[in-house]
Amino acid sequence: MVTELMKDVYWVGIVDWSLRKFHGHELSTHRGSTYNSYLIRDEKTVLIDTTWAPFKEEWLENIRAVIDPAKIDIVVANHAEPDHSGGLPLIMQHAPNAELIVSRRGMESIEGLYHQPWKFRAVKTGDRIPIGKSELVFIEATMLHWPDSMFTYLAGRNLLMPNDAFGQHYATAYRFNDQVDQEELYEEAIKYYANILTPFSPLVSKKIDEVLALGLPVDMIAPSHGVIWRKDPLQIVTTYKKWAAQAPEKTAVILYDTMWEATRKMAEAVGGGLAAEGVPYKIFHMAVTDRNDVITEIFKTKAVVIGSCTVNQGVLPTISPILEDLRGLRFQNKIGAAFGSYGWSGESVKVIEEHLQRCKIPVACPGVKAKWQPKPADLEACANMGKAVAQAVKA
Ligand code: FEO
Repeated sequence: MVTELMKDVYWVGIVDWSLRKFHGHELSTHRGSTYNSYLIRDEKTVLIDTTWAPFKEEWLENIRAVIDPAKIDIVVANHAEPDHSGGLPLIMQHAPNAELIVSRRGMESIEGLYHQPWKFRAVKTGDRIPIGKSELVFIEATMLHWPDSMFTYLAGRNLLMPNDAFGQHYATAYRFNDQVDQEELYEEAIKYYANILTPFSPLVSKKIDEVLALGLPVDMIAPSHGVIWRKDPLQIVTTYKKWAAQAPEKTAVILYDTMWEATRKMAEAVGGGLAAEGVPYKIFHMAVTDRNDVITEIFKTKAVVIGSCTVNQGVLPTISPILEDLRGLRFQNKIGAAFGSYGWSGESVKVIEEHLQRCKIPVACPGVKAKWQPKPADLEACANMGKAVAQAVKA
């Protein structure tokens, strides 16, 4: 269904209610997603971004509900990832005279994905294309979140279309931020930021300052996923600035996996120590918990305490993916600690501590190991570790 966002500007995107995994199977999307695409009618007709290929026919019908696709003069591909570019082959077939506008790095990514001789034009920050009463203005947004990412601003209409930035994987019956549950909206917005944008936080901050310095009036921010920020649109910009600063809450996340409950008992004892010092904590058993949700919790928190029993001289395989995320997402301003049970060789705590150091997460206190099932003295050592972590959090 098409929605008119403002006079002659239409949302012609797709709501994907059933999406549960994104980026292959890398990212969980409990509330589905949308692939937003915008059609602008002026003296020239402009299409901003497309859709994911499985939905291309339905999306073309949305365009047809507004205009004959052959009349599209300009297609803007703000970013090449297939959830936004998947409709390009179809639309370029139906609008053979359309010019395809991409960022300078988009020349490489779009060409590399589709190998088509389309009528490309590469633009850079500050380039403008008049389309009648209004004008397209382009802002390269390198690494937000790909090298090719770009924002398109519709001057005269005060509409910013920043592609993935400010988005949420959030399927709803509505198109605007003021129409949906605010708690759900922000749960999805922060999950999106934590899992996708965290490593680029210094660039996020810089880009926001650069865009604000341009002094462009903004009445609406229309990202490529989720709802459109219409009510107080700059609220998400201010929130991104806060998230980009990575100033964590004075809390702790304990994540662990266990084979015979020994490491679970240790996790709970660590929690007891944190509580005794008045530091709130959450415990996640990684074998049964969604990894992306835990990443969101890690993003928010100061301390990351990781536990695993020793298996094959290392950690349980369920712990390895989140260790890899800690490396790749480059969290700032965290502290860490490690614990785990063992029966024979007992390397897991050392493996975790070395990994934390590689991730530039300082280890707040020495790790705790317990041989076989933890004895009272082992659990007391875990509680003391919780207290030490809590003191470091409060400091
Ligand atoms: Fe980077 Fe929504 O794709």
